[in-house]
Amino acid sequence: MKGIILAGGTGTRLHPLTKVTSKQLLPVYNQPMIYFPLQTLLKAGIKDILIIVAPDHSGDFVNLLGSGKQFGARFTYEVQDKPEGLAQAFLIGSEFIGDDTVAMILGDNIFTHDFSPSIKSFKTGAKVFVKEVSDPERFGVVEMDESGRVITIEEKPEQPKSRLAQTGFYLFDQTVVERAQNLKPSKRGELEIVDLAKTYLEKDELSAEILPGEWIDAGTFESLHKASTIVRENDLGIDFNHLSSMQVEIQDIKKKISL
Ligand code: TTP
Repeated sequence: MKGIILAGGTGTRLHPLTKVTSKQLLPVYNQPMIYFPLQTLLKAGIKDILIIVAPDHSGDFVNLLGSGKQFGARFTYEVQDKPEGLAQAFLIGSEFIGDDTVAMILGDNIFTHDFSPSIKSFKTGAKVFVKEVSDPERFGVVEMDESGRVITIEEKPEQPKSRLAQTGFYLFDQTVVERAQNLKPSKRGELEIVDLAKTYLEKDELSAEILPGEWIDAGTFESLHKASTIVRENDLGIDFNHLSSMQVEIQDIKKKISL
């Protein structure tokens, strides 16, 4: 399975913090925000990762993350010229995805959950990950049955059918690119992830999983502050130095074995 981190957008809700840098490069306690979605993918065993960025600060992402080697991974970068919707990631990433399944994570979403089991068991269709919230009308809202089959999915409904909000982590099979190519922009001019999910729902191929653990969309001052507090209090900082030294050790071991 391949991975995509969607780290473009304009971050207008965080102005003036995002006037001269990207939201996903802002600090969350002691680390740049993008380290968290990156770690979610790495922890789940996804090592081939496309990072989609906005044109203004693209060089900063490369400076920060490099080729991926120090993380034991391989990074590819693409620029999204305009923020024309989450589902545009699958058009920008069509060549990268090829014939593979793909996990997409939003660059401003922080999870404590380990997605490995869901990724291992994922074969076809699409899967969204949901969390109960008190204000579902602000989100994509999912109504599901006990087996995890999705019954309805609606973008920011006035009268939500459940309190389950769609989070920023998604799994799609290899038909996602073709489906994204057939999407039409919504009234706000974006290719919507909910519309993409609906193409799976129509074929009864959309499932949902309720997430344990924390989920933060760090896109507002309040949630960014909360994210820093949670990371600090739960010691969620990522020991990437440890990760890269582990990688060197593994390479050394491999060398010794082949000798
Ligand atoms: P949003 O928070 O919806 O948008 P934004 O980051 O531009 O912020 P604001 O609403 O304050 O202007 O985006 C969620 C995530 O998806 C975030 O990490 C940015 C990313 N994104 C893109 O990369 N491309 C896009 O076209 C959109 C809509 C979002």
